[in-house]
Amino acid sequence: MLHQTALAKARSLYQPKLPASLSARSTANKTDLPNKADAEIQHLFPNTFNLPAVSFSSGSGETKSSPIRVGVILSGGPAPGGHNVIAGLFDAIKQIHPESSLIGFRNGPDGLLTNNGTEIDAALLADYRNTGGFDIIGSGRTKLESEEDFLKALDTAKSRNLTALVVIGGDDSNSNASKLAEFAAARNAPFSVVGVPKTIDGDLKGEHIETSFGFDTACKIYSDLIGNIQRDAISARKYWHFIKLMGRSASHIALECALQTRPNITLISEEVAERRLTLRQIVDDIADTIVHRAANGEKFGTVLIPEGLIEFVPEMSVLIGELNEALAHHSDAFNALADLPAKRAFVAEKLTPASASLYKSLPDDIANQLILDRDPHGNVQVARIDTQRLLIDLVEARLKERKATGTYKGSFSPLPHYFGYEGRCAFPSNFDADYCYTLGFTAALLLREKLTGYICSVRGLTKPAAQWQAGGVPMAQMMNMERRHGKMVPVIKKALVELDSPAFREFEKHRATWSKETSYAFPGAIQYFGPSEVCDTTTITLQLES
Ligand code: FBP
Repeated sequence: MLHQTALAKARSLYQPKLPASLSARSTANKTDLPNKADAEIQHLFPNTFNLPAVSFSSGSGETKSSPIRVGVILSGGPAPGGHNVIAGLFDAIKQIHPESSLIGFRNGPDGLLTNNGTEIDAALLADYRNTGGFDIIGSGRTKLESEEDFLKALDTAKSRNLTALVVIGGDDSNSNASKLAEFAAARNAPFSVVGVPKTIDGDLKGEHIETSFGFDTACKIYSDLIGNIQRDAISARKYWHFIKLMGRSASHIALECALQTRPNITLISEEVAERRLTLRQIVDDIADTIVHRAANGEKFGTVLIPEGLIEFVPEMSVLIGELNEALAHHSDAFNALADLPAKRAFVAEKLTPASASLYKSLPDDIANQLILDRDPHGNVQVARIDTQRLLIDLVEARLKERKATGTYKGSFSPLPHYFGYEGRCAFPSNFDADYCYTLGFTAALLLREKLTGYICSVRGLTKPAAQWQAGGVPMAQMMNMERRHGKMVPVIKKALVELDSPAFREFEKHRATWSKETSYAFPGAIQYFGPSEVCDTTTITLQLES
């Protein structure tokens, strides 16, 4: 039994805010969407592509509804608010029909494939309302993607008498949810699938999805920590803090934290790729700022580094691609080697001259991380590469060169940090608590309408929750074709930071000042109780985009 802290007890009493138009009796309104996707996607999703967008308005009178028997899975990395999606879903299906029931499949899609589930009832949920984490049923990264997986999923549903599934996940999990919906529809199986946009990375968004849940809370947690470090920096006045921030590919988290805290330097991976910056140029830019600040007597500073940076530096991306190939094709010989220096030398021989020379120039621990850590799909695990230490090593070397030439006199004391897992399971902010509860409630209404292949969409998120507009859009309409494992497949496009987006432009406007002067902001800890402007406001990114 987990210990209930005073905050946990107080939060369990928090009633998440719902849009005024949302209740078990809301009316579903359908609007045709302009056909934007290519013919191939339309061809691959004949049953779930040509569907209208749905929005819910205040309903009057009784709706005739039957019980909804639904399963739910939490997929991928945790994000604050997942428990509230389940709470919103549970409360709504019970209001729609008291005999409705909810099965939670354990540890992500794996639980569905192995029929490992548990009934979620009011008593179980009571301990989890408004808490962080995915621990009510656990999460996992098993993919639900083959025909065999889909058949198993339908078998599980049949054996449990389920007519629907809610998938709470990121771009990949929702892409696969969409494929399962199409698979079931093509077989006339009485089984609906609805997706919910989750990920702290903030990269599942677009025309119909304003933000994924969890991004708000995670950015606020990291920004609190960065602000505290910056306050320490101006107090102790001696350290340069190199802070890596989670976010597998996109730099939305780093960008939002920069807007919230105004650090001296923030690297944005998408800009690095767009401007084709080399590692040397990135390091030179950082060294320039350090030298400039030292000349003004400021031997301290902060650098924000997005987790995915390494894969966006063009020369590193080529190197990582070649390493992936070499490791995939020579795994037996590689694994037979006894020690790391031998392994490094072995892979270096398989690289092109440019990549081999870059690889050999990297510090040993980074070179080791690049060959050892692979995810189950053979990709490098960026969360486990110490990019912050790599940059510190390279900047230190560059400053030494400058000292030798007399262009820099200061002392450089760097400290590495990594903020990642700290943000994924925090108590959801009021925004995420309300947004997630609304998403869960919306999923139930889409199921009440017996709709399938939809992702929940809640619009107007910078307005008070009462004015939000909830509904759903067909996931197939969000797809594009991408090459994965050598094959073109339909997937929901990951939304990277756009260099002409309002958030990036705002950052660009201020970054020169922030690097030279000390303009730090200290957002402080998330507030759960108090005035609305302190507790309910969402991210700067969302405000600028609205
Ligand atoms: P999701 O895309 O599943 O939401 O996960 C995102 C993330 O938190 C990334 O920011 C991070 O790179 C990755 O998960 C870490 O994965 P793991 O939990 O497997 O270590």
